[in-house]
Amino acid sequence: MKSPSRVLSGMRPTGALHLGHYHGALKNWVRLQDSHDCFFFVADWHALTTAREHREGLEQNVYDMVVDWLAAGVDPEKATLFIQSRMPEHAELFTLLAMSTPTAWLERIPSYKAHLEEDREPPNFGFLGYPLLQAADILIYKAGLVPVGEDQAAHVEFTREVARRFNRLHSPDAPILPEPQELLTETARLPGLDGRKMSKSYGNAIAMRDAPAVVEDKIRTMPTDPQRVRRSDAGEPARCPVWPLHELYTDEVTRHSLAQGCRSAGIGCLDCKQPLIDAVLKEQQPWRERADQYLANPKQVHWIVEVGTERARGIARKTLREVRHAIGLDY
Ligand code: TRP
Ligand code: SF4
Repeated sequence: MKSPSRVLSGMRPTGALHLGHYHGALKNWVRLQDSHDCFFFVADWHALTTAREHREGLEQNVYDMVVDWLAAGVDPEKATLFIQSRMPEHAELFTLLAMSTPTAWLERIPSYKAHLEEDREPPNFGFLGYPLLQAADILIYKAGLVPVGEDQAAHVEFTREVARRFNRLHSPDAPILPEPQELLTETARLPGLDGRKMSKSYGNAIAMRDAPAVVEDKIRTMPTDPQRVRRSDAGEPARCPVWPLHELYTDEVTRHSLAQGCRSAGIGCLDCKQPLIDAVLKEQQPWRERADQYLANPKQVHWIVEVGTERARGIARKTLREVRHAIGLDY
């Protein structure tokens, strides 16, 4: 029996995903699909609201990302996978919600304010409306739980306010749009190869589908404790960008002996990195096997998305009928 609360989450199509995406989001999706009715979608409209670089190769990025979802173990038999731009229903709900949402609410969203302060490319109207589109994505499925990273919690809170106001104005006796809760992913941010947050744009990421030789090379050349210049210098794991990866991948007993080896200069950094390389390669093995199957059969991926899109559309249409009726648009 699955929980009655529906789960919905979206990801902007950034192309091939990396280990940070897996540990920060996908791992959680795979877990949730067994216990909840899950909807996962490619937020490709959202990608159009921001930097121009995200618009190039969009189709490739969309399908690379879906293959990574499937590779990670997201199961189209258990979860519904779809693409936002194939769902004009989201745009209709966005329009209708816009009529009861004060502009000021959007102007005070942290990501919008930060954009203005950073003095980048002037924001377009779509960027201002970004959180309202996200609210429509969520509310159209009456999702109860929204797995997101911390940076998105403000958008889910905003979604609750939008729902509350809509219900109060249009269906005070029997609320139509339930208020969702965010489900924060508890894994700490996975640091990248240079110790900063793992991100494709920093060039410090290990992709989920990086070839074994590439993974090996990336980890072997990772910087270590800057004070451990020679093999004979004692090191300190707390100063080493490699260490947080051990905290994720390596069991406590091994970790303890590695830390001792580091502090006493008993082991070299390559010795220390080897178990990490082995662990990442082992983790990637099933991803690679699943991905190879889908890459050999791209039609199957399109079909999965097609089926998911139609399943999602059924639910979206039903909510829209209720919303139109509540507003008095059912003539
Ligand atoms: N804004 C989210 C992000 O950048 C993507 C997103 C769009 C989303 N719509 C959503 C996430 C609805 C959860 C629910 O990561
Ligand atoms: Fe970092 Fe390990 Fe080298 Fe110590 S031995 S500096 S923890 S890589």
